[in-house]
Amino acid sequence: MTQSILKLDSVDVSALESYREKFALDVLTGLSEPRKSIPSIYHYDAEGSKLFNKITELPEYYPTRCEIETLKRNIAQIAGYMGSETINLIEFGPGDGGKTRILVEYFLNKGLEFQYIPIDISYSALDDLHQRFKKSYPKLELKGLVADYFSGIKWLNNEYDRKNVVLFLGSNIGNFNRAKSKLFLHNLWNHLNDGDIVIIGFDLKKDIDLLLRAYNDSRGVTADFNLNLLQRINRELAGEFDISNFRFFATYDVFSGAVESYLVSIQKQEVIIGEIGKSFHFDPWEPIHTEYSYKYLESDILSLAKNTGFILKENLYDEKRYFVNSVWEVNKPHAS
Ligand code: TRP
Repeated sequence: MTQSILKLDSVDVSALESYREKFALDVLTGLSEPRKSIPSIYHYDAEGSKLFNKITELPEYYPTRCEIETLKRNIAQIAGYMGSETINLIEFGPGDGGKTRILVEYFLNKGLEFQYIPIDISYSALDDLHQRFKKSYPKLELKGLVADYFSGIKWLNNEYDRKNVVLFLGSNIGNFNRAKSKLFLHNLWNHLNDGDIVIIGFDLKKDIDLLLRAYNDSRGVTADFNLNLLQRINRELAGEFDISNFRFFATYDVFSGAVESYLVSIQKQEVIIGEIGKSFHFDPWEPIHTEYSYKYLESDILSLAKNTGFILKENLYDEKRYFVNSVWEVNKPHAS
């Protein structure tokens, strides 16, 4: 029997020690800069993932609900991109797979031929997803790849001669700044074949109060989610952060179009991080940057597609048009 979850050797970052070492190095680098920051990927340990799921249920946090609505009301159009022969349905960072269920259930019911291939750097996340999906959909062909996204796609293209449909949902693209998102998408285009499809979730620019409320919820769940970064440093790197000496702050930069999240030191303090063997100084009101969430206009999305080698096939929306799932086709007309 072939394995359902495969770790690609070149990117075996699942070994706990190397992961912890990378975390320590990233924290050291981020907290040593004049503008302190912690990379946003570290939000999602077990505790952080739990808190993020709570965020998605908050009345103020519209993106997840809007994307689910978008996928549901446009499911027939999406199925139209699947093709008549077996395809690779690839998903970058599937999370708990809640949104994927909408697609997978519909495609299975329609008798479409596909293999579902989630790609993630976390083995346990994929294993979890695999267990749950096997129970719900015994007939689903699932092959998880523990890999970085591009190594995963490279491996797939060597293994199968199939059309690829890539899902990059959840406005994860918003975590990249404009230049990096362009680089990422052009790199994706490079790894795909003419006629392949990608479906990307973009959060749209909208009333600033709505944006700010989504990232400053009244129950403080988003604050806990961000403070978990410091708690994670305490747990995994023998850090000595006193959480009550930091407050969460989110703002919207109207020029860059990004919601920016910070943890702000409310007083002068020194914090030891044992595993790093160093103490870090914080001035009163000094921020640690924790996340960008870039918002888009439809015109930004169109030029991004054009500038990275794709044809924008259509934009799918929720009722309120807060969110877009944009369907792009890889255009390589002269590829041999
Ligand atoms: N990256 C997601 C988003 O932009 C998740 C998220 C929601 C988030 N609230 C946050 C990340 C606050 C960091 C800080 O919607």
